[in-house]
Amino acid sequence: MMKRTKVKALLSAPQLGSDVIVKGWVRTKRGNKNILFIALNDGSTINNIQVVVDAASFDENLLKDITTGACISVTGKLVESQGQGQSTEINAASIELYGKSDAETYPLQKKGHSMEFLRENAHLRFRTNTFGAVFRIRHSMAFAIHNYFNDKGFVYLHTPIVTGSDCEGAGEMFHVTTMDLKNIPHDEAGSVDYKSDFFGKETNLTVSGQLEGELGALALGDIYTFGPTFRAENSNTPRHLAEFWMIEPEMSFYDLTDNMDLAEDFLKYLIRYALENCKEDLDFLNNMIDKALLERLKFVVENEFIRVTYTEAVSILTASGKKWDYPVGWGRDLQSEHERYLVEEHFKRPVILTDYPKEIKAFYMKQNADGKTVRAMDVLFPGIGEIIGGSQREDQYDLLLARIKEMKLPEKELWWYLDTRKYGTAPHSGFGLGFERLILFVTGMSNIRDVIPFPRTPKNAEF
Ligand code: 4AD
Ligand code: MG
Repeated sequence: MMKRTKVKALLSAPQLGSDVIVKGWVRTKRGNKNILFIALNDGSTINNIQVVVDAASFDENLLKDITTGACISVTGKLVESQGQGQSTEINAASIELYGKSDAETYPLQKKGHSMEFLRENAHLRFRTNTFGAVFRIRHSMAFAIHNYFNDKGFVYLHTPIVTGSDCEGAGEMFHVTTMDLKNIPHDEAGSVDYKSDFFGKETNLTVSGQLEGELGALALGDIYTFGPTFRAENSNTPRHLAEFWMIEPEMSFYDLTDNMDLAEDFLKYLIRYALENCKEDLDFLNNMIDKALLERLKFVVENEFIRVTYTEAVSILTASGKKWDYPVGWGRDLQSEHERYLVEEHFKRPVILTDYPKEIKAFYMKQNADGKTVRAMDVLFPGIGEIIGGSQREDQYDLLLARIKEMKLPEKELWWYLDTRKYGTAPHSGFGLGFERLILFVTGMSNIRDVIPFPRTPKNAEF
């Protein structure tokens, strides 16, 4: 029995004259009474294989049912193409129809659709060239991430999705409970009685695997996490999701400079990997979505990132004479407009900002000797803004505890985190890369909802 060949394999090393079986979905059908040309795509590549059908040798009704979106299996001979636009095509000997696609109602017609329309049809949008390219690239990036860390001897650590702690301390968490919401038990003081809940305590979906990642790093040396994280922030922007994937490496014996070096090397590796391994998909996106994409990707790989402190950045922004929607001043958090000015207009390069005021950063960051700033780093990218957030961690028990108390965080809940500073503490650092922000940058897509298969955003959890 002959086996099916994927279109990618057929096109990359065509064995002209051989008999093949291809299976896939019809993109277009054109032709006349005598001869039909079917563009068939099976998802293995952005390219279609052209199937040439001699109408006289086939059942008329079968041919009528082969419409855009239908799924077919074709057996035939691979030959050099007579027409333009492709080098190889298949002369069909037999065709089996797996699934019809009603031409009247099939949502994906030949004309271009808006991204909004395709989002509403996210169950079918994989079948478009754009989304095929995006999700093949997303896969390649996930693979490259594991490759990168595996080659460096990092351990992939699976941190929990259900947690009792709030890593970022922003309180933007989804509750996890099996309580009957219509009949919530209360204790004598009138507070919710979590003792009767499934876990016997208050639990949430994690906003970050970092705290547990640190526990791993302080024994295994270098670890990374790669998993879903959840934020109940009501940010309806093209760069925020309520459910997103994050990669969080955590390294013992790394200071902030080592951490920045790793972040820069990692991002360049991933972009270089895409340029070398996703060429056809990137060429397509460069033509159809963003004409400056390839140039921008190469630019980032070839140039050193600028490293400046938050304090220097605030001076630059103040001196720019620009009118900002959000005010600039030492101690205020930077907004997207400020980050993008620094990257796109001032430095014209990716920028790593360091040493932020402690008030606008999380409790676990290492405090500087000035008593005002912490060893934080944010990597800012053109068109994206913040792509990575990280820091050196506070490794001294007394300082960490003082900060937890100062910020009125639940000290008791963090006993296990504090323990690592009591028993064999070590200097260590880490960061978090937002996977979808990386994919936004690499694909040139402009909305984060279009680089994750099924986006979760405020008021939207369809599919
Ligand atoms: O800067 P963040 O909040 O840092 C942390 O969570 C740290 N615990 C990371 C660490 O040091 N291990 O988030 C890290 C990155 C951001 O830079 C951004 O790329 C992405 O995660 N991110 C989001 N991506 C999509 N939607 C959201 N709502 C995001 N929030 C953060
Ligand atoms: Mg951040």
